[in-house]
Amino acid sequence: MQLILDTGNVEEIRELHSKLVIDGVTTNPSIVAGEKKNFLKLIMEIDEIVGEATAIHAQVLSTKYEDIIDEALFISKLRKNMYVKIPVTGDGFRAIKDLKKQGIKITATAIFTAHQGFLAAKAGADYVAPYVNRLDNISADGVGTVRDLVNIINTYHMDTKVLAASFKNAQQVLELMKIGVHSITAPADIIKAMMGHPLTDWSVAKFIEDWENEFGKGTKTNR
Ligand code: E4P
Repeated sequence: MQLILDTGNVEEIRELHSKLVIDGVTTNPSIVAGEKKNFLKLIMEIDEIVGEATAIHAQVLSTKYEDIIDEALFISKLRKNMYVKIPVTGDGFRAIKDLKKQGIKITATAIFTAHQGFLAAKAGADYVAPYVNRLDNISADGVGTVRDLVNIINTYHMDTKVLAASFKNAQQVLELMKIGVHSITAPADIIKAMMGHPLTDWSVAKFIEDWENEFGKGTKTNR
């Protein structure tokens, strides 16, 4: 499963990229606005941290077909390994289909049903991003929707990856890992929740205490 960071915070990206294997970074207009930075500057800063082997996904703001095409072409040229996120509106589907013919890498986003995900995959999207927590928040079944979409993509042997997005807790991520989701994008606090456990910290402290009680403070296995 690919692990992608859903943040524009360069400190969070730097920290988690140094500690884990991170397959990409996703942003959206709300994330960029939250960083209060120029869009181009932010993408370049992220690029400098993660390097060109790691994908960056950035979203168009345009809603009309011609404007989506223009903006997508602009974003796609910002760096190597750049995915253009396009919401699955009517004009969005049309743009995905036509941009794919030009070889642009596309992440179809703002997906709320398995139908939308299937149609975006069929239009040629490399990734389709269903929003788990936004569905859960309206009493719909976010995990169930992603499960259906993963089954459909796998059943028809489509090349597209399901990129589950919009998470509020680590349990939502775990439920999707159990059903074989292809990739997830989650904010730093959720990735950190996946990394840590109080018993890990307790165990490390206990190992040191036991060692130091026997061999003295500050001693190590190599001296
Ligand atoms: C990612 O591609 C989405 O834009 C993002 O995960 C949405 O997350 P949110 O629902 O927490 O804003």
